[in-house]
Amino acid sequence: MIVLIAAILLAIPLLAYVFQEMTMRHFKRPDGTRMPTAGLFAFFKGLFIKLNNLDTGNYRKYGKYGVFHNFLGPVSNLEVGGPEELKKLLMNPTKFRGLSPSSTTVFNEILQNALGITQDHDRWTAHRKLLNSSFTNTEKFLPCFERHIDHCFDAWEAKMKKGQNKFQVAEETGKIALDVLGEAVFGQDLKSVEGGNSELRYSYEKVMVYLFEPTDFIFPWLKSLPTKHNAILKESVANYLKGMKNIIKEAREKGPSNPPTMLDSLLENMDEDTMNDGFTEREIISNVSGFFVAGHETTASALALGLFSLCKYPEVRQKLIEEIDEVVGDKPLTMEVLSELKYTQMFINETQRRYSIIGTFPRFAVEDAELGGFHIPKGTMITANFTATHHDEKTWGDPFNFRPERFSKEESKNRHRFSFLPFSGGPHICLGMQFSLYEQRMFYAKLLRRFNVSMNQTDKIEYNNFGSLAKHIQMEITPRVK
Ligand code: HEM
Repeated sequence: MIVLIAAILLAIPLLAYVFQEMTMRHFKRPDGTRMPTAGLFAFFKGLFIKLNNLDTGNYRKYGKYGVFHNFLGPVSNLEVGGPEELKKLLMNPTKFRGLSPSSTTVFNEILQNALGITQDHDRWTAHRKLLNSSFTNTEKFLPCFERHIDHCFDAWEAKMKKGQNKFQVAEETGKIALDVLGEAVFGQDLKSVEGGNSELRYSYEKVMVYLFEPTDFIFPWLKSLPTKHNAILKESVANYLKGMKNIIKEAREKGPSNPPTMLDSLLENMDEDTMNDGFTEREIISNVSGFFVAGHETTASALALGLFSLCKYPEVRQKLIEEIDEVVGDKPLTMEVLSELKYTQMFINETQRRYSIIGTFPRFAVEDAELGGFHIPKGTMITANFTATHHDEKTWGDPFNFRPERFSKEESKNRHRFSFLPFSGGPHICLGMQFSLYEQRMFYAKLLRRFNVSMNQTDKIEYNNFGSLAKHIQMEITPRVK
């Protein structure tokens, strides 16, 4: 028995070594240089380390060519962090396609036809073109941002009057981001700030939990087992899809709102004939859901990590206050006024660089390709590693310091365009980038004219599963005395 156990213990690393060698012999330069690899066990090691630290650590160790290889469990994966290599990756969407999860996951059931998920490149091109126009006019969304930010701040003030001045950061920013999307996407008040549980919000939150269930991605077949959990899951997805169909039906009967919601823009181009460029009902459901998945937790995290940074770096906060007092004063927050908030935008950029809200994004090689001078075999899974790029010493010098000034005109002048990619880059660049940036500017312009914010847990950042601040982190808010 002991001999058998010893043989197995010896065989595992040997087999792992052979597997690693067999894989790595494909990733070569024409002169025979092999691509550096973090090795087969880096993934398992990574399970014990915070993912963000692992990403930058491995890149610094193995990324001298702008690319390195690692294994995600048994899956061969290429990490891309060099600006020139990222440019090549992101500018060639037909060669490097977005990764599609297994067709049986809840994620796919709901999102398979959304921009960014669909595998049909021609359909994506047509749909992106149609949707670009409804996102280019950010100005029409300003009243919606303002309404929901004011609403949340009024609720804080009411609670302060009753003696409460501590609030969970990520929860509060999550409420604002969700209510803004509810109105902008389909003109409905989801009432998160009131803690109201509209039917729609309830089914959205339930489905969101299932969308990112790790077991669903790793073992999608588990979902077909006749368990109670699976019965609830099936019912939730069915309710969600039914709810979405109702919303579409009501919106069609009511006609477009003024200003038109994102759903109105989709409905304007609704067409069940897939030979044309419009959206089928299924594609509308996927895209509307996609706006929430892409825009809710991301903006909420950016705001939560921004609040964290404001509290951690009081000298930066003071500069924001001075700019906002000087530029905004008592003026209405129009597009022109928000556009003048240059330091605030530098602060938003630095928050999104330092804490890289979406740290990595998947692609795969549709055909044999080349990156960093290395051969990349067809079918290789690829990770665009934005966290690594955002912490590359060659670009940033002191990447772990928080310094908004690095985004000043002078300091940005000679920087590679693909070294700062909070919203990715190339043809798939985030559709909601301007939407989110102006929502964030509006948030700080209103917050700092009205409140003082502080936190006492800023020595070390703690994340939740979505990469935002951990739930238990609280901020203390008091009215600002001018
Ligand atoms: C701080 C907030 C946000 C961040 C950090 C963020 C980041 C990203 C990133 C990294 C991508 C991947 C692009 C690629 O495949 O290369 C993306 C795609 C996308 N985002 Fe955002 N996003 C944010 C907010 C939003 C908002 C508010 C919306 C909509 C209301 C939105 C809608 C989308 C859509 C539709 C795509 C897919 C684009 C395509 O493939 O054509 N995002 N976003």
